[in-house]
Amino acid sequence: MKSSILFPALLTTLALGVSACGDDSAKVPAAPPRPPLTPEQVTLAMAALPAPYDQADYENGRRVFARCRACHTVTEGGPNMTGPNLWGLFGRPAGRHEGYTYSKALQEADFAWDGDRLDHWLANPRTFLPGNKMNFPGVPDDQDRRDVIAWLKVETSPRQGAYP
Ligand code: HEC
Repeated sequence: MKSSILFPALLTTLALGVSACGDDSAKVPAAPPRPPLTPEQVTLAMAALPAPYDQADYENGRRVFARCRACHTVTEGGPNMTGPNLWGLFGRPAGRHEGYTYSKALQEADFAWDGDRLDHWLANPRTFLPGNKMNFPGVPDDQDRRDVIAWLKVETSPRQGAYP
């Protein structure tokens, strides 16, 4: 008696569940936040970087990035804010992150970001690309720049190999 009422109700619930899943698949889900690296993973990740970044101080890099956080996110699928999201920065052509409106100076820049270019950009954003709209005085200390670039190399890339 009872099961003849419950069974159709169960089928309806299942069907609703399936169709709700189908709707969700249209959206691209944001990547889940990554757990912080363990100290062992930090050591491995830093050692894998090219010189001089393999000598950098990851913790100091994280602290220096506090100066950038008001305007930039670094996670995969993270939002653009005043400045563009920086996921996948290294090797990415300057001024091309999707959904962000760059200044003409950055739109017309004809290079891909690497450690060297980022070092010049962060030493003095105004003179590196005149007319850009990053309203930031720069990071004057050489060591701070090395550290924040190393931190960015680790945090804006997929974790693979020795430190998944
Ligand atoms: C006050 C906000 C602000 C701060 C603070 C800031 N930025 Fe930016 N950043 C911007 C804006 C705005 C742009 C886009 C510039 C343009 O289009 O001319 C930008 C662009 C960039 C780009 C170029 C990205 C691309 O896709 O080509 C990099 C790299 C970058 N910032 C790194 C940093 C780092 C690292 C720091 C901290 C040391 C920092 N920024 C601090 C606002 C900021």
